[in-house]
Amino acid sequence: MKLSIAVLAGDGIGPEISKVGVDVMQAVCDKFNHEVTFTHALCGAAAIDAVGDPFPEETFRICQDADAVLFSAVGDPKFDNDPTAKVRPEQGLLAMRKKLGLFANIRPVQTFDCLVHKSPLRTELVKGADFVCIRELTGGMYFGAKKEGADEAYDTCAYTRTEVERILKVAYEYAMRRRRHLTVVDKANVLASSRLWRKVAQEMAPAYPEVTTDYMYVDNAAMRMIQEPRFFDVMVTENTFGDILTDEGSCITGSMGLLPSASTGESTPVFEPIHGSWPQAKGKNIANPLAQVLSVAMLFEYFNLIDEGKLIRRIVDKSLDENVRTPEIQVEGGAVYGTKEVGRWIVEEIKKA
Ligand code: IPM
Ligand code: MG
Repeated sequence: MKLSIAVLAGDGIGPEISKVGVDVMQAVCDKFNHEVTFTHALCGAAAIDAVGDPFPEETFRICQDADAVLFSAVGDPKFDNDPTAKVRPEQGLLAMRKKLGLFANIRPVQTFDCLVHKSPLRTELVKGADFVCIRELTGGMYFGAKKEGADEAYDTCAYTRTEVERILKVAYEYAMRRRRHLTVVDKANVLASSRLWRKVAQEMAPAYPEVTTDYMYVDNAAMRMIQEPRFFDVMVTENTFGDILTDEGSCITGSMGLLPSASTGESTPVFEPIHGSWPQAKGKNIANPLAQVLSVAMLFEYFNLIDEGKLIRRIVDKSLDENVRTPEIQVEGGAVYGTKEVGRWIVEEIKKA
């Protein structure tokens, strides 16, 4: 297969983990005889510094022309405490989502046995938890009508039936491929937009008789996720609720630095780690590249290149088993591996496989 990949390394640790992702992808493509080309493009603070726009037109064009985007992270502290900043790196991410029509954000919440002891939850609660959060990504308060006045400000949570239907369809398709249990998370006891979600879900449910659909208020879902994370199989929710619940989901596994995600929709799909740009670690060769590497696995799987994805997942597991780990997950007394060293080890294992 021919694959053309747009590489958006972004800020902070982005460029370091991006390099590992690209090297791993190249190694897998060599092994399976795929022809891959990488086109690097600017985004985030790096793009603001270079051209004054966090998602420049040229980057948009490169993304549109690619088969997939391998994204790393954006964000820089110099913008965080400046409410007067005219442009922010995060706007680049939102612009990319909107312009590429990436309405479905797929965030798997998965545990690694050797890391469950890092979870803030008791091992017996969290071990084996394995669910997917499908977050709507181009609607809700993020993109609804806004006012930012001196004495009044608001954000509107608006959804159309079409927007709700298409994300529920993605969620049902995931549920069909998994344990056939879908939880629709909303706040239908208070919010009109949530009542539309629930109504549309109730209309669609009979078309998927194999799937058990249940409905849960978001406050209850946040609680259930820490009380009984294994309850969930596929969860679907609107943009803001999904933002909050996926941070919760990633941290209960104990492996936040290891979780990848995919955003798909109308145009080029984007694959990225769920963690941020960790500016304090920039250039220190300590960032864990595994979430980026697993994003490459998700990328292959998206194109139905299942063996390619499997190989990456197997070698990531092996690296953890053999303690080839970056400092934040290294066991006491274990060898020290940096971002580059973990990357090199994985590439060598791919070649040997
Ligand atoms: C995420 C992030 C983004 C979001 C930020 C960086 C704009 O938190 O991808 O979850 O809120 O969607
Ligand atoms: Mg978030």
